[in-house]
Amino acid sequence: MQKLTTTLKKLGYLWKRSQVPIREPIQISRIDNLIIFLVCTVISIISSYKLLVIPSLTNSDIFSWFLNFIEVLVSCGFLIMVSKKENPFINSRQILLIITLLLLVQVAKYNFPLVLSPLSMIVPPALIISQGMGTITALAWVSIASINWPDFIAPINNNLLIITLICSCIVSVLGGRIRNRAQLLQLSIFVPLGALFSQWILIGRFQNSILDNQKNFISNDKIFSDSLLLAVLMLCTILFIPIFESTFGLLTKARLLELADKEKPLIRRLSIEAPGTFEHTLLICGLAEEATRMIGGDIDLIKTGALYHDIGKLHAPNWFIENQEGSKNPHDEIDDPIKSAKVLQAHVDEGLKFARKNRLPIPIANFIPEHQGTLKMGYFLYKAKEKNLNIIENDFRYKGPIPQSKETAILMLADGCEAALRAMNINASDQMALETISNIIISRQKDGQLDDSNLSKAEVFLIQRSFLNVWKRIRHRRIQYPTTKNNTFS
Ligand SMILES: [Fe+2]
Ligand SMILES: [Fe+2]
Repeated sequence: MQKLTTTLKKLGYLWKRSQVPIREPIQISRIDNLIIFLVCTVISIISSYKLLVIPSLTNSDIFSWFLNFIEVLVSCGFLIMVSKKENPFINSRQILLIITLLLLVQVAKYNFPLVLSPLSMIVPPALIISQGMGTITALAWVSIASINWPDFIAPINNNLLIITLICSCIVSVLGGRIRNRAQLLQLSIFVPLGALFSQWILIGRFQNSILDNQKNFISNDKIFSDSLLLAVLMLCTILFIPIFESTFGLLTKARLLELADKEKPLIRRLSIEAPGTFEHTLLICGLAEEATRMIGGDIDLIKTGALYHDIGKLHAPNWFIENQEGSKNPHDEIDDPIKSAKVLQAHVDEGLKFARKNRLPIPIANFIPEHQGTLKMGYFLYKAKEKNLNIIENDFRYKGPIPQSKETAILMLADGCEAALRAMNINASDQMALETISNIIISRQKDGQLDDSNLSKAEVFLIQRSFLNVWKRIRHRRIQYPTTKNNTFS
């Protein structure tokens, strides 16, 4: 009996862990929910009202209309659910974008079936969604946008629908992975070319339809103009993606890489005004990137997040030890642990202000408070206790929140291990380094800092190993190689 209870508990735990993310999605206000619901209802009405506009309406007609209406409404709900699952930080504007694109497609299907081909209606929006909200959301959107075609205006060729579905799926999958605008341009050329050839082979006027016996072949001129229109629309979409990014707060891979550019003014300022912090940031980037690769997380996100995590130190660089370079420590001069703790907390608060001023996307800004979580400012707490001050321990803890994603949790661990690893003796063994790393990680775990991060034990183990690998690389670089006087070899 006890065995059964333990097994059930284990199964329950595994189920809980499989539900990614553990974190509750962002709360959406009632008004926004109402607007989203209204748009979904309009989509359902547009998709189904024609079933009611027939002479001599029977009960079965009303029933089939109702079924159609509910089907589309439920599909919209499913789409929103999938997008929330894939993007825990999705906001109402982004949901509205997905739903509005669906609405536009439904309107186009019923009003411009002869002008726009299914390819031009579905592929460009799929590109926007895959870039901004990921492959799974884009695939869900494509599957819903591909149903409910009006067959009373002009019968749609089934082969054309299959080609549309294949092209949209390719765009959804590649769009979610593409990391620069040049690859996007290639996609906008090759997909229309592929569509042109496959249409020409499968549904051209002089060909027999391969997949079915439909007689509604399309002229080769129409196929060419449709593919050209698709290429133009995809190019326009790529041009407008930066506007979508800023208007709807989308975080595309290209935007992440642009933000990670070390020539960005804020990063340049960090390298000039706080060189120590900049060096610390670069080292953390290396540690965090390796660990994220090991556990299969979002490398571009963590690389960019790591670059900006301590940006708040710009408000007072010389108050942080890494920027003091042997000069006097202002903390010693004020000799007030409470004030010193406030300065430390300020690097988080000011960092968030910098993030807002520079319009950093929310997932990047989240690295600023979450890398410190609610950690204790141990040194100043110790100093305060030494002075017998009347203190509350919470005054010496960062305000949080604790890491809410695997990436921010990795950054917290990398932040903790960086100084310790840098300070380690060059002759220290791997075992010693691993012990140092695991001690830091265990202390964070015991403090409850990783509770909301959804990191499994296996992932924590992999993170330890990857930190060790990075340390080995650093140590290797620091070893002085013997040189000869006439060193001509390389
Ligand atoms: Fe920090
Ligand atoms: Fe840091």
